[in-house]
Formats: sequence, C-alpha cells, structure tokens
Amino acid sequence: MTILLTGGAGYIGSHTIIELDKAGHDVLVVDNLVNSNPEALRRVAKIIGKEVPFVKADVRDRAAMEAIFSENKIDAVIHFAGLKAVGESVAKPLEYYENNMNATFVLLEVMRSHGCKNLIFSSSATVYGNPAIIPITEECPKGHCTNPYGQTKSMLEEVLMDVQKADPEWNIVLLRYFNPIGAHESGTMGENPNGIPNNLMPYITQTAVGIRKELGVFGDDYDTPDGTGVRDYIHVCDLAAGHVAALSAINRKCGLAIYNLGTGHGYSVLDVVKAFMKVNGVNVPYVIKPRRPGDIATCYCNPAKAKAELGWEAKHGIEDMCHDSWNWQKNNPKGYEG
Ligand code: NAD
Ligand code: UFG
Repeated sequence: MTILLTGGAGYIGSHTIIELDKAGHDVLVVDNLVNSNPEALRRVAKIIGKEVPFVKADVRDRAAMEAIFSENKIDAVIHFAGLKAVGESVAKPLEYYENNMNATFVLLEVMRSHGCKNLIFSSSATVYGNPAIIPITEECPKGHCTNPYGQTKSMLEEVLMDVQKADPEWNIVLLRYFNPIGAHESGTMGENPNGIPNNLMPYITQTAVGIRKELGVFGDDYDTPDGTGVRDYIHVCDLAAGHVAALSAINRKCGLAIYNLGTGHGYSVLDVVKAFMKVNGVNVPYVIKPRRPGDIATCYCNPAKAKAELGWEAKHGIEDMCHDSWNWQKNNPKGYEG
C-alpha cells in the first residue's frame, strides 16, 4: 500500500516511516516543517536505505494537496500534522484551532474527491480529560479538555465520526496516544523540541546533558503513590508499530474504530527520573515545584482492545525508553541542528 503521512517529518511520523517500510509499505510525506527538520527524513533514509519521498507543503494548501493526490495513488492517510504544544495553545488559541481544524477539513475534502477514504488519525489521551475510569478503556467517556490543543483533538474526533457516519465507505481509525517517549535504537533519530521543552522526557535529557540546570517536578501532592503525576509512557517505536497494526483495521473495513495506544503501566514523574538515572548512570538534579495548571494526577490505559483486534502491544519497558532517549540526546546534544 502507499501511505501518505501528513506531518511525517515530525517525532512520531518519522519513526512511523521506518515501521511502515519494514512492513513493506510505500510512503509519501507531506509536511510544512513548522515543527520539524528535514534532517529527520535524511536520518530515516539512512536507516531504511532509500530516500523518503517528501513534499514540503502545508496541508491547508488545497492546491498542493490536490496535486499530491492527482500525482500519486494513495491507499490510506496517516494524519499526524498538527500543532501540539499545550501551553502555546492556551496563548495562541486561534492559531491552534485554525491550523489543526482547517488542515483536517482540507485533507478530508481532497481525500473524498479522489476516492481515498482510509484514514488513521493522531488523537490523544487528552480527550479523556480527567479520566472517569482508571485504567482507561475506549469506553471511558470523553472528558473536559483544559486547553485549545486538546479541544482540537476532541472536536476532530467528532468531525471524523460524523464523516464516517454520513458515508460508511470511510474507514477511520482514531488512535489515542498516551505519552510517547524514547527514540530509535540507532540513536540517530528522536524528539527535537524547539526551545524549552514542555514534556517530561526531553526536559530530563536536556538536564542530564547540561542544557538545563535542573528539572522542575510539577507537584508532589497528587493522590498518587509518591505524590507526583502518573502517566502511561510508551516507546515511540512501539507507537509507530501501532500505526502499521491499525492498517489491518482499515483493510478489514472497520468503519469507525478507536484504540488506546499505551502500555497499560503508570509511572510517576519520580519513577521516570529514578529509572533514567539508574539505567544511564547519569545524574538529573530536580526540585519540586508547584502543580502545573491543567495537569491531572493519573492517566494510564487498558490497551487490551488494540491487542485483541490489532494484534498489537507495546514491547519496550521504561528502561528501554530511558536508555533510547538518552542515547539520542547524548549523541545529538543539539538535536537535528547539531
Ligand atoms: P511533531 O510536532 O513532531 O509532528 C507534527 C508535524 O506536523 C510536524 O513535523 C509539523 O511540522 C507538521 N505540521 C503541523 N501543521 C502542519 C500543517 N498545517 N501542514 C503540514 N504539516 C504540518 O509532533 P508529534 O509528537 O510527532 O505528534 C504527531 C501527532 O500526534 C500530532 O497530531 C500530535 O498532536 C499527536 N499527539 C502527540 C503526542 C505527543 O506527546 N507527542 C501525544 C498525543 C497526540
Ligand atoms: N512534568 C514535570 N516537569 C516537567 C514536565 C512535565 O514534572 O518539566 C510532569 C507533568 O506534570 C506530568 C508528567 O510530567 O505529571 C508528564 O508531563 P508531559 O508534559 O510530558 O505530558 P502530559 O501528560 O502533560 O501531556 C502529554 C502531551 C499531550 C497529550 C498527553 C496525553 O504533551 O499533548 O500527553 O497523550 F495530550
């Protein structure tokens, strides 16, 4: 199959190219590089031993998307493209709503006009809000998202459900990712955040490598075993493999399907910091800071549905995640700019 990856130069997309290639699929990437570096695709090319077909374009650019679909026979689309920084979305709601919603509208319209009705969408555990059920199953009701980024994911899920309901020829898989961390085992690819990282693992690795003085642990008074926030961290390569598995749902004409992609294990902030220091033999100074607004205490999933229906489950544990994150950071202290 030929798979179009929107946002395929980004963190999760670039790792997914490798898994798709392993499974024998052809890929085409469209990305405007607003939050990525073309060097990521050159590193992928080294790993898979061939160039990655790439179009630099904005998914909101209808003419560019029309050209992509006219010039290529696309069997399915994995739609990663979107802005994803929670804090920035609070400061720039219009930019987030405009980019994430309009990119998806243009994509859906162009796909429909070319008769390509197979889509995998990057959704997020954020749609559960403060989850009503732990571990979170797909039946858990959606919750209140505390930021515009999360709202775009939740709203786009609704849009996609309506599109599939109106035209059952669509096969749409909503993948609700938990917390992707880690990097390719080669140490040549990984997460490359712009500026000060928002997320835990890049903050830890940048502290370990000396770019940041110390990690702030956001709150130690949550109702969790050690008081710090608990999340379901998943190795980005496992997450990438989840997309290949999701193609099997498309192939059996799933209609609308929703899967949690996580490990099912919850680790606290301090669990991750301690595992990182132990596995890598490096120090990560940290201080306890106040809670970060909008954070919840605990979020981890029950991934049984993905295992039963897609035959997919995460293979890497927290040690591998910490090892591979550090391997990437220490070999590339400046990320892809280094
Ligand atoms: P990323 O920022 O590394 O990748 C997203 C890519 O989309 C970037 O390369 C960016 O340049 C591109 N992009 C953004 N808007 C675009 C547009 N209008 N046209 C073309 N390209 C555009 O992020 P990621 O971590 O790889 O995340 C991929 C997807 O998964 C996103 O939709 C994100 O919201 C979602 N997601 C990520 C996480 C996470 O923690 N990383 C968790 C849940 C869901
Ligand atoms: N944390 C710190 N210090 C930091 C950064 C994070 O203590 O410097 C803590 C947070 O308070 C939280 C945990 O580490 O308890 C994880 O925080 P992240 O920012 O790494 O991840 P979140 O769970 O807040 O959010 C991530 C993505 C969202 C996505 C969500 C669920 O950023 O886009 O996972 O998939 F919606």
